[in-house]
Amino acid sequence: MDVTRYIDDRPEDGAFRVNRAIFTDQAVFDRELARLFEGGWVFLGMESQAPAPHDFFTTFAGRVPILVQRDGEGHLRAFVNSCPHKGARLAQTQAGNARLHVCPYHSWSFDSAGRSKAIKWQRAGCYDAAFAQDDHGLAELPRFAGHRGFLFGSLSADVPGLSEYLGEAAHLLDLVADQSAEGLELVPGQVTFTYAANWKLQLENCSDAYHFTSAHPSYIRVLERRQQEISADVVASVWESSDFWKEEAQGVAGGSYSFAHGHVLNWGIFGVTPAIPLYESAQVLAERHGEARRDWMFNMRNLTIFPNLQVAENASSQLRVIRPLGPGLTEMRTWCIAPKGESKAARRQRIRQYEDFFNPTGMATPDDTVSYENCQAGFAGTVNPWLQGHARGMTASVAGGNRFSDVLGMQPERSVLADAQLCDETLYHSYYRAWAARMAGGDDA
Ligand code: FES
Ligand SMILES: [Fe+2]
Repeated sequence: MDVTRYIDDRPEDGAFRVNRAIFTDQAVFDRELARLFEGGWVFLGMESQAPAPHDFFTTFAGRVPILVQRDGEGHLRAFVNSCPHKGARLAQTQAGNARLHVCPYHSWSFDSAGRSKAIKWQRAGCYDAAFAQDDHGLAELPRFAGHRGFLFGSLSADVPGLSEYLGEAAHLLDLVADQSAEGLELVPGQVTFTYAANWKLQLENCSDAYHFTSAHPSYIRVLERRQQEISADVVASVWESSDFWKEEAQGVAGGSYSFAHGHVLNWGIFGVTPAIPLYESAQVLAERHGEARRDWMFNMRNLTIFPNLQVAENASSQLRVIRPLGPGLTEMRTWCIAPKGESKAARRQRIRQYEDFFNPTGMATPDDTVSYENCQAGFAGTVNPWLQGHARGMTASVAGGNRFSDVLGMQPERSVLADAQLCDETLYHSYYRAWAARMAGGDDA
């Protein structure tokens, strides 16, 4: 595939353009499934989704159903959720606890370590000796690994190790995990929805600071009204950030970091404020991690781990998993992600803020998904196929990190520091450079 037909990346000319066809073309989509989702690392779920012996949850890597299962000894494994007999999907629910999985089609059974437990009427089955040579257990994923409770798997063995794949972006997962000494959990109440547009629109929107004031006016108006109702003493305590942030953040509203393999972060300064449920832990987190690093936890941070994981810590804290279903159809699975052990009041605040902003019933998510569907409709127009949405920030983007990434000991490939209106679009380049590198080359067998 000649990727220059789709991504016009000419840094020497200051140009970066994306062809609309990458959002609509069936052949491009099929190749994305094969190469990105079924041929490399994808996020599968959180370790906390299967905490006890024999707990399991199910998910997908591209089209492939996946079963993540903890065995009786507490060891976690990831399998293709498909019976070796005739291929039927084995576990039928999103999550559960099972010492034994019995296939609904012909009752072959498997223990929680994926081993074949029984084959119905095996002795009467007149099997030849060759059958006994076969392993009748579930097929394990060639690669399965975790980082701080975030679990990833790959259907291809031909990938870098997970720590190499995450690279410097792992520091940003640490920043989520470090918010509690007990780790992270997903708040009950998972929401799944679909939208009629390409999966990469969700990928981009998470990193899109430019749309916020345009697409979410009703949410902004509600926030303004609430702000007026907050008492004066709460407002007075709003800026309790460390000296580092008070001094170094003058004139900076936030920015972006781009990493190898397509991972990106956009961020904005919120300050240590009671508007954030983490506020009750501000003191303890400063003692544990130092004030400057603690303040990073209070910043607005939208993180993408390419290609299917997003952790959005803005109005509340959301974990999203992107699942492409077709060039113009995407499934989103979303959870409120929270530090374990926070107080009831903090958890209530987190959930209320979550409901405000997220979910198909929230004030922001529908604005975004409608915009994706508007884009998808507009992509039919190919008179000029090249989009102009990847050029803001071009002269602000610099190689390497800055004083803020230094606080995290993190070395991104590129970074941008922004005021309130710059709204960097160069962070998308990281997505499309990783995309192009993996989509290029000869045809798949
Ligand atoms: S397909 Fe599972 S037992 Fe036949
Ligand atoms: Fe949005």
